[in-house]
Amino acid sequence: METPTNSDRLHEHFSKRGFILGRWITEHGDSAEINLGSSGLHGMELKDIPIPKDLQLGGGMMGGDPSLQEALEETFGVDRDNIVITAGATEANLLLCTVFLKRNDGMVMERPYYSPLVDVPEHLGAGVVFLERNFEKGFAVDVEALGNVVSGAGAKQVTLTNLHNPSGVAIDDGTMGQIAELANNKGIHVVVDEIFFDYVSDRYKHAFEHGDNLFTIGSLSKLPGVGGLRVGWIVGDKAVCDRVRKLKEVTTICSSLLDEVVTAAIIRDNKKYILKARDTAKKNTAIIDKWMASRKDVQWVRPSGGVVAFPRLPDGIDDLDFCKRLLKEKGTLVSPGTYFGVKGHFRMGFGKEESVVKKGLERIGQMLDGW
Ligand SMILES: Cc1ncc(COP(=O)(O)O)c(C=O)c1O
Repeated sequence: METPTNSDRLHEHFSKRGFILGRWITEHGDSAEINLGSSGLHGMELKDIPIPKDLQLGGGMMGGDPSLQEALEETFGVDRDNIVITAGATEANLLLCTVFLKRNDGMVMERPYYSPLVDVPEHLGAGVVFLERNFEKGFAVDVEALGNVVSGAGAKQVTLTNLHNPSGVAIDDGTMGQIAELANNKGIHVVVDEIFFDYVSDRYKHAFEHGDNLFTIGSLSKLPGVGGLRVGWIVGDKAVCDRVRKLKEVTTICSSLLDEVVTAAIIRDNKKYILKARDTAKKNTAIIDKWMASRKDVQWVRPSGGVVAFPRLPDGIDDLDFCKRLLKEKGTLVSPGTYFGVKGHFRMGFGKEESVVKKGLERIGQMLDGW
């Protein structure tokens, strides 16, 4: 019998692990009295979205419904050849990794990470190495360190999130410009998950605008918060988009027509939703600011925008224990740092009513006081 290789073992490990964060939230989100575990906003209802009742459901369009193609062309200011419509940002990641990576290729992933972004390349047999985004450095991307990790791993691809999930920290245009230069010099691709980007899109450029080696992926799952619609996108270089589109044709043909039409209708009103989401983020961040100032034990990096943060627990508190006990004893759900690859932290999602956020913070405080 052949000895399993390291990537065979990893392949087995990750196919068993699945989406640990997603399972944690699915299992406990509805039963928890206070849910600060997930990263989105309250959803929307179909009855509030104007869609044609005579929509023909006979067959989806390869390449995506024209109404969605137009909406995305307008949003990103590019031609439809530079866009691929996918089943969520999740499929966008899968398709790009499949096109960019072969078995045993090096790949660089930020840590803390959103786990599917690392599990997919691992699953494909790539050798994933991590770029640490350190709490002490405000979770910033250190471009020099990135260059070293890329060279050391002989990496073909880098994946980042902007805003960073779990910390909510933005990668500014200066830094993204340097990353684009690095990608160009090394001949590598950079995938940037911008699912939270609209919280700061008036301040910064999209990743793909920095150069042909950078790709934006996104969806409406977090903002305005319609993750039940399995629609997302890739925006970037036309030649790569052509290859990805062909791969999608033979895996899923196209995404759900109904989801695409609903998504297009939401995008037409997106400015309104974005402003509302930013307002929620601003109000709730102010509440957390006050709470943080009142505590000596927990520390945080204040997010650049959005409704997630990744506070650090006092020394000696295990994040898994903390999150499990907080749920059991205080009915409050937050997500363990371990699920993002970093111990001693928890991710808090605060896209909720102000009263819920206040109550959640109160209970987190009580848990810490009694620890
Ligand atoms: C960084 C990030 N990317 C992707 C997703 C999932 O995206 P989608 O629902 O569009 O597949 C999430 C959901 O939590 C996320 O946090």
